[in-house]
Amino acid sequence: MNYLVPSILAADFCNLGKDIDQTEQAGAHCLHIDVMDGMFVPSISFGMPILKSVREHTKLFLDVHMMVENPERYVEELIKLGADGITIHVEACTCIEKTLATIRRLGAKPGIAINPETPVEAVVPYMGMVDMVLVMTVQPGFGGQAYIDSSIDKIKEVRSIIDKEYPNVNLEIDGGVLLDNLQMNLDAGANMIVSGSAIFKGDVEKNISEFLSVLESDIGHK
Ligand code: DX5
Ligand code: ZN
Repeated sequence: MNYLVPSILAADFCNLGKDIDQTEQAGAHCLHIDVMDGMFVPSISFGMPILKSVREHTKLFLDVHMMVENPERYVEELIKLGADGITIHVEACTCIEKTLATIRRLGAKPGIAINPETPVEAVVPYMGMVDMVLVMTVQPGFGGQAYIDSSIDKIKEVRSIIDKEYPNVNLEIDGGVLLDNLQMNLDAGANMIVSGSAIFKGDVEKNISEFLSVLESDIGHK
């Protein structure tokens, strides 16, 4: 199945509840929560207090993307606050297997992410432990960047491994995804589509319904 995962990084934080309500009413499947530490990525976004408020406001699946060095420090607290899924970066963690196992043991869905310059081989050893592989399609750290074209080959490569060996694993993409390049990413094998600016700039409900009509008419990979 294909999932639409709006990233609240591009929402209006003075009206976050309203933006989330519109997202939910329009039929999005999950919310993507981008946590940045100013170390793994240059920017700082938000963390626990926002996650807590969002959890109290919505029942949508909360997909937490940890752009943070040593994310194992925060896993337990994030799950207590209501994270449904936690994705860590293969580049940012020295105890990946243990951290993924902890996420699962505490009742959330583990994911593993790779940056644009990181080869697919880096995540292969963990694919049997995760619910989702996240292929970054921009350099992590900022919303509103242009999609990196070489990501398409990487998505195809990950999809082919998933189809052969891990059919229950989802393939998420994140960064620069617009209505214009959506179909090409679905064709390459992505089935969880994160989008920030293209969802929250302008008319949120209209944007979501346009994305969903592409996602729903696609045969999908799962
Ligand atoms: C970037 C974040 C993304 C970001 C995507 O580092 O991980 O989730 O919100 O934003 P857009 O869709 O605007 O590229
Ligand atoms: Zn993200």
